[in-house]
Amino acid sequence: METRAVYPGSFDPVTNGHIDLIQRSAALFDKVIVAILRNRDKTPFFTVEERTEMLEMAVRDLKNVSVTSFNGLLVDFVERLGASVIIRGIRAISDYEYELQMALMNRRLSSKVETVFMLPAESYSYLSSRLVKEISQLGGSIHGLVPADVENRLCSRFRTK
Ligand code: PNS
Repeated sequence: METRAVYPGSFDPVTNGHIDLIQRSAALFDKVIVAILRNRDKTPFFTVEERTEMLEMAVRDLKNVSVTSFNGLLVDFVERLGASVIIRGIRAISDYEYELQMALMNRRLSSKVETVFMLPAESYSYLSSRLVKEISQLGGSIHGLVPADVENRLCSRFRTK
């Protein structure tokens, strides 16, 4: 039977660390659905549409990967897709506490869905969307940390401000 995995997140914006995890997941599962959370309290930097475009561009060569967005409870969305796995990346021990809490809560909400923790390449272990935005805003180089398309979008957004 086909194993579908959902990789949820804010992806505001997607970084090379996210892409590294998507590539690793695509090699493990039959289908990987990258899912952008829509209903966030905090105002995102990029709209869901922009984040979708950036992700679609970044995964265009991975045939078993698709990009979508979701509202509401993650486990409900995962079940609706007929998926059985949630992928989450762990960069450092500091991520673990929050991820453990979410994984166990999701397990309580649905026993049919399993969370799989994956490690990005070491070179991305200190990378985050938040830092990328901050560095770009302050005029630093984010080259090699995000796809070229994302780098261009960030640079032009901050240059016009
Ligand atoms: O990239 P992020 O911001 O760390 O992703 C967090 C995300 C989207 C995975 C999490 O906020 C989530 O699953 N939200 C959906 C609502 C939900 O199911 N909440 C209960 C989680 S136990």
